[in-house]
Amino acid sequence: MTSSNISELSDIYTLDVPDMDIWPKAEKILTARVSSGDIYVDWEDGRVSRFQALWLREQCPCIQCHSEITRETLFDITDLSIDVQAKICVLDADGYLIVQWDQDGHESRYHPGWLRANCYDDWARTGRETGKPTWDKDFEIPAFEAGGVLEDDDQLYDWLVALDRYGLTRLYNASTDTGTVEKVANRIGQIRPSNFGSIFEVVSRPDANSNAYLSVELPLHMDLPTRETPPGLQFLHCIVNDAEGGESLFADAFHVAKFLKQTAPEVYEIVTTVDYPFRNRALDCDYRTAGPLIRLDADGHPVESRINTFLTAPITHLPHDQLKKALEARHHLMRLVKEDRFRVQFKLRPGEIVAFDNRRALHARTEFFPNTGNRLLEGCYLDRDDLHSALNMQARRKRCEAIRKSEAT
Ligand code: OGA
Ligand code: ZN
Ligand code: ZN
Repeated sequence: MTSSNISELSDIYTLDVPDMDIWPKAEKILTARVSSGDIYVDWEDGRVSRFQALWLREQCPCIQCHSEITRETLFDITDLSIDVQAKICVLDADGYLIVQWDQDGHESRYHPGWLRANCYDDWARTGRETGKPTWDKDFEIPAFEAGGVLEDDDQLYDWLVALDRYGLTRLYNASTDTGTVEKVANRIGQIRPSNFGSIFEVVSRPDANSNAYLSVELPLHMDLPTRETPPGLQFLHCIVNDAEGGESLFADAFHVAKFLKQTAPEVYEIVTTVDYPFRNRALDCDYRTAGPLIRLDADGHPVESRINTFLTAPITHLPHDQLKKALEARHHLMRLVKEDRFRVQFKLRPGEIVAFDNRRALHARTEFFPNTGNRLLEGCYLDRDDLHSALNMQARRKRCEAIRKSEAT
């Protein structure tokens, strides 16, 4: 966000909601009623929302409940009675919901836009589900002009949406100056440093502390699988790439996971549940962790992969038979990952940046030959959280602009 946009947001920021977000009052509440202590709201579009009483009481936006400075909660939520109930609920002249609570007579006033944005009825939850499409070799990587992303918030937003959705994007027409990748990354947030520094130079060198800094082929992998939470994003900026070879490859681990689930469910079961150990090699640091090769959320959807064949460590926590099965399962998955049907391949051009989800879009490069020319990339990492925060802030800015526009007409 630029500082001018931030001040615009603070102009419109209101103590009518228990957070610092901005919501339109597009959808009006027609009636509100109490039933068994919970609050029911009938919306103008015919939808109905039911708010559990304790849930709503906790979110009271008044300045006794939420600091007018920080907007963080001032009371101890466990001091509320678990069966607090609404005694009265009515609408005020501005269409806000007023609730009087039974126990301490506290009165709360809720912004209809905030209620609509936060309701959790079946229709609302379903409407917010955003299944992410997965991709294979035919994927046309979404591409954005680097200057637009740097200068223009709407183009930034479009890029962030694509990065979040597909986990792989390209930026073109960037400068070939060193430091460019940092500028682009800072459009999202703070760079996450690692033992390779804040910005790392991918170049073939005699004192390499990673296979990436040799000229050898790098098979499809993620970076830093040795960390409890590996970086969520990786950027690689091509500065020079005129040596022979050194082409880039990408594969969507979530797409491979889908295929594996259908074709070899018993292998899928193992790679999603067994902890596989990883360890870096270095004279000055010793990172180790273990995790499933594909991690699923509570609904069984892949949320991250941990795939890398050159930073594995010996499995020491499984008895022989299980260990053998775990190795066979990994073998199966890794063979699959390499299949042509899953991967896109191209050669990065100077002034091009690839930005990808390090825990989803596996990356690789073919061998290159330093005696035929130069190859230099600059790279860095960020976390997924920063992408999500930047996306939320851009969405907030867009809502703010829409509200201003509607007020002006
Ligand atoms: C890396 C890496 C890819 C490349 O630095 O981790 O995978 O194209 N580099 O050199
Ligand atoms: Zn209150
Ligand atoms: Zn890498």
